[in-house]
Amino acid sequence: AAGALLDRHGRRPGVLRLSLTARCNLACPYCCPDDHDPPGLLSLAERHQLVATAASLGFTRLRLTGGEPLLHRDVEALIDRLRPLRDRGPGADGGLEEIALTTNGVLLSAERARALRQAGLDRITLSLDGADGASVARMAGLEGGSDSARQGERLLARVLDAIENAHAAGFDPARGELKLNAVIARHRNADQVLPLAALARRLGVELRLIEFMDVGNRNGWNAKQVMPAAAMLELIQSRWPLEPAGRPMHGTASRWRYRDRPDGLHLAVVASITAPFCGDCNRLRVTADGVAYTCLFAAQGTDLRPWLRPHGDAAGLRQALADLWRHRDDRYSEERNRSGAVGRAPHAEMAYLGG
Ligand code: GTP
Ligand code: 5AD
Ligand code: SF4
Repeated sequence: AAGALLDRHGRRPGVLRLSLTARCNLACPYCCPDDHDPPGLLSLAERHQLVATAASLGFTRLRLTGGEPLLHRDVEALIDRLRPLRDRGPGADGGLEEIALTTNGVLLSAERARALRQAGLDRITLSLDGADGASVARMAGLEGGSDSARQGERLLARVLDAIENAHAAGFDPARGELKLNAVIARHRNADQVLPLAALARRLGVELRLIEFMDVGNRNGWNAKQVMPAAAMLELIQSRWPLEPAGRPMHGTASRWRYRDRPDGLHLAVVASITAPFCGDCNRLRVTADGVAYTCLFAAQGTDLRPWLRPHGDAAGLRQALADLWRHRDDRYSEERNRSGAVGRAPHAEMAYLGG
């Protein structure tokens, strides 16, 4: 039974993070997306097979990522095709509990938001790293010289439209179906913590402030650029009192409730550097070209394509995924703090892994 599948630290399967493309229409310096995809991308049928097999092992929650997943034309078709699994629900063998999407929002038009909802998407998380044009431009890698602030303003307006579009399509922030992610880096956008919080409060959307992480090899990470979640929270608290609401089991984010909000609005921090959460990590990642990684910081993945093509081998794939999980030993974020993360092996890039 799915319940019996444990890794070396006793962790169970839970979330499949499926990247649809390593490409992005932005160039955020903390992520550094690729400008082309690797060869051998999975087809829609292969992705369907993969999700169904993973679900049968207990990966009952699906998150679609990238790169920018909406660059992929088949997102709606994939979600639609997964509907029978989603309708079956998590209790039934092989059913899916939810389908979520992480996107930068640039392509989330009103029509696209409606189509995604209609196909069966449950939740959307939008990324926005600043509340003014100059900050947004800096965080999105928009190089336009004197024009970059204006480009940033345009992008900000698009993301605000995307929030509106998602809302109109039925994604309800009060039910956690619409959230905002902001990566905070000390020398880049620490001054955006309060403006972003104010913006999210105005929109009634939960904001998740994320510590800049050392994913990949080319984003120039060093510990000095990390703004600790505690410092972010202190800033917020000085303006709006918060009460702790805890980190949900298997969650990435620690949540806080605004005391002054009758609607129960929350703020959250993803403190992967200062307060790692590997202990109950239930996530498996699969890249756009079908390589599975257990940890976001893994040096090597497992190519699943031998079981997906030329003809699907569902039993073989199931066995391969189960073996991969059973042997899973990583908990990089917890070890990083012990070892100081010096001299670590090169690892895969963020946009390829999907976060
Ligand atoms: P929810 O289900 O809505 O809580 O989504 P999520 O937080 O799991 O996913 P999202 O794509 O919004 O990611 C938020 C941040 O958490 C991003 O910076 C991710 O890179 C990071 N993240 C997600 N999973 C892990 C993980 O297993 N380990 C670490 N260290 N960071 C993660
Ligand atoms: N550190 C923390 N979060 C990151 N993301 C991308 N790169 C990093 C990084 N180096 C975030 C994106 C998106 C999510 C999937 O991961 O902003 O919200
Ligand atoms: Fe999971 Fe690895 Fe992140 Fe720890 S560092 S929470 S094991 S992905």
